[in-house]
Amino acid sequence: MNFKNSVILLTGASSGIGYQLAKDFAKEGAQLALISRRADLLESLAGEINQNTSVKFYKCDITIKEEVQKTISQIKNDFGKIDIAFLNSGVAYRSSVLDYTSKDAETTFNTNVLGAVYCIEQILPEFISEKRGSIVGVSSLGDGKGFPKSGFYSASKAAFTILLESLRIELKKYNVKVVTVKPGFVKTAMTDKNEFEMPFLMSVEKASKIIIDGLKKDKRIIEFPFGTTVGVKILRIMPTKWFEYLTSKDPKPKKQ
Ligand SMILES: NC(=O)c1ccc[n+]([C@@H]2O[C@H](COP(=O)([O-])OP(=O)(O)OC[C@H]3O[C@@H](n4cnc5c(N)ncnc54)[C@H](OP(=O)(O)O)[C@@H]3O)[C@@H](O)[C@H]2O)c1
Repeated sequence: MNFKNSVILLTGASSGIGYQLAKDFAKEGAQLALISRRADLLESLAGEINQNTSVKFYKCDITIKEEVQKTISQIKNDFGKIDIAFLNSGVAYRSSVLDYTSKDAETTFNTNVLGAVYCIEQILPEFISEKRGSIVGVSSLGDGKGFPKSGFYSASKAAFTILLESLRIELKKYNVKVVTVKPGFVKTAMTDKNEFEMPFLMSVEKASKIIIDGLKKDKRIIEFPFGTTVGVKILRIMPTKWFEYLTSKDPKPKKQ
């Protein structure tokens, strides 16, 4: 994948992985349409990077279909095209079954699955008719199993991974690329809330570099870090009883 002068629509650019990616894509010479709800954060990020490249920001809640329609149509007007839809926005709640509420499930699925579906709906017809374009979706290594206290999150990422896989196969004949990004633990606002020791916790700078290198190499699936990727693959193939035993223990508390 080539970034020089490409127009990248990037959701979830106000924080964490998306924030770092915006800065790194700008260094690669990409033009950027940054999306999230916190426009003040996008504005200062755009101010920081617009010396190098053309960058605009858009306040948009991706769980509201009409806002997504309006925003993406505005982006097409402003830039004339979209080359890469980088769908990174996401939320995660960790909660025990004692706090089980459909409200958390609605927010999680509306953001992590439907929000991405609304974005794809707006860009797909042009990608298909013009036989070009790339969709990059940020799923998670947490998509592989039902991890305790993260049921809604893991289920939403499993849904997103499967959706991307299906699109990748169907869209190949239209020359539209689909890439799935599956990070392990990356140090962001999302993981700062976790009260347990996170294995192979990685910086956003490193995560962004791995993602960009993977895209340049035209990888279909970019999963990292290696230790977590292998660990999750082992968890997936081990007998259910073992998985339940290992994950039912309380995780090690985070060092202060
Ligand atoms: N950090 C990790 O360890 C890790 C691991 C695996 C996968 N991931 C995935 O990586 C992606 C980025 O996560 P992160 O760690 O960088 O978390 P983060 O720092 O909390 O960033 C999440 C981003 O999503 C945006 N967002 C949330 N709800 C939105 C909505 N309704 N509309 C538009 N934007 C919305 C937020 O922007 P606003 O609040 O301004 O709207 C923010 O920019 C997520 O999809 C996450 O699931 C993260």
